[in-house]
Amino acid sequence: MKRKLLVVLTVLIVPLSIPLPMAMAGPIEDKVAVCTGCHGPQGHSQVPENPILAAQHPGYLEAALQAYVNGERDYGIMKTLAGRLTAEDIKAISAHFAAQPPARSQAKAPGDAVRGKARTAVCAACHGPDGNSVAPANPNLAGQHATYLSNALKAYKSGSRTHVIMTSMVAALSDQDIEDIAAYYAAQSIRPPSAGVHEPTRLALNTESPAHLQKEFRLFAQTATPQASAAKPTMSGGKSR
Ligand code: HEC
Ligand code: HEC
Repeated sequence: MKRKLLVVLTVLIVPLSIPLPMAMAGPIEDKVAVCTGCHGPQGHSQVPENPILAAQHPGYLEAALQAYVNGERDYGIMKTLAGRLTAEDIKAISAHFAAQPPARSQAKAPGDAVRGKARTAVCAACHGPDGNSVAPANPNLAGQHATYLSNALKAYKSGSRTHVIMTSMVAALSDQDIEDIAAYYAAQSIRPPSAGVHEPTRLALNTESPAHLQKEFRLFAQTATPQASAAKPTMSGGKSR
C-alpha cells in the first residue's frame, strides 16, 4: 500500500521536474501558432503567395524577419507580426521552422521551367545549381512556391525590397524571365538540412569586394540577353574566382 502511494507520488512529481528544454516545447508551439495560420503547419504553406519556411536556413529566416521590421522589406502584416517578436523569439522561431522536414510547392507555376533553368547560371553561384544553397545567408529557393519567388524578384525590381546584390541581379530580367526562373526553382526538391548542403561554407562569389561584384554584374548583364546566354550558357562561381 505504502509502495503504491510512492509510485503515485513519483508519477505526479516527475512531470514537474522535467528538464528545461522539454518544458519549453509548449511556448514555441504557442509562438508559431499565429505563423502557421498562413505558413502552414510545419511551415509547409499551401498558399502560393505565402512562402514555405520549412528547411530554410535559420540565419536567413532571422534576417528576413528583421528586414520586415526595419523596412528593407515592405509587407504590412509581416512588419506588424515580426515587430511584436523579441530577438530571442525571432531566433527560436527561425530555428523551429528551419528544422522542419522539407516540402515542395504543389502549386501550378505559369512560367517555363526549362527556359528558366537556362537563366540561372549566375544565380547558381550563390543559390546552388538546383536552388539548394550552401552559404547560410543565401536563401534556398528549391521547392518554394513560384508565385512567392516571382513576387520576391519583382519586389527587388520595384525597390520595395532592397538588397545590394539581388537588386543588381534582377535588373536585367524581364517579367517573363522572372516567371520562368520561378517555375524552375519551384520544381526542384529542397534537401533536408542533414544532407549537408545547409552547412556553412565559403561563399561561391566574393561579395566582399565591390570591384569583383561589379565584374560579376557586367558578365551577368551580358549573359542576360537571349543571344548571349545561348552562346555563353554558364558562368560558374568557380570560374569567376
Ligand atoms: C496573414 C498571413 C501571414 C502570417 C500570419 C504570417 N506570415 Fe510570414 N509571410 C506572409 C507573406 C504573404 C509573406 C511574403 C511577403 C513578401 O512577399 O515579402 C511572408 C513572409 C515571411 C518570411 C520571409 C520568408 C522568405 O523566404 O524570405 C518569413 C521568415 C515569415 N514570413 C515568417 C513568419 C512568422 C515567423 C510568422 C509568425 C510570427 C509569420 N510569418 C506570420 C504571410 C504571413
Ligand atoms: C552573390 C550572391 C547571389 C547571387 C549571384 C544571386 N543571389 Fe539571390 N539572394 C542572395 C541573397 C544574399 C539573398 C537574400 C537577400 C535578402 O535578404 O533580401 C537572395 C535572395 C533571393 C531571393 C528571395 C528568396 C526569398 O526567400 O525571399 C530570390 C527569389 C533570389 N535571390 C533569386 C535569385 C536569382 C533568380 C538569381 C540569379 C538571377 C540570384 N538570386 C542571384 C544572393 C545571391
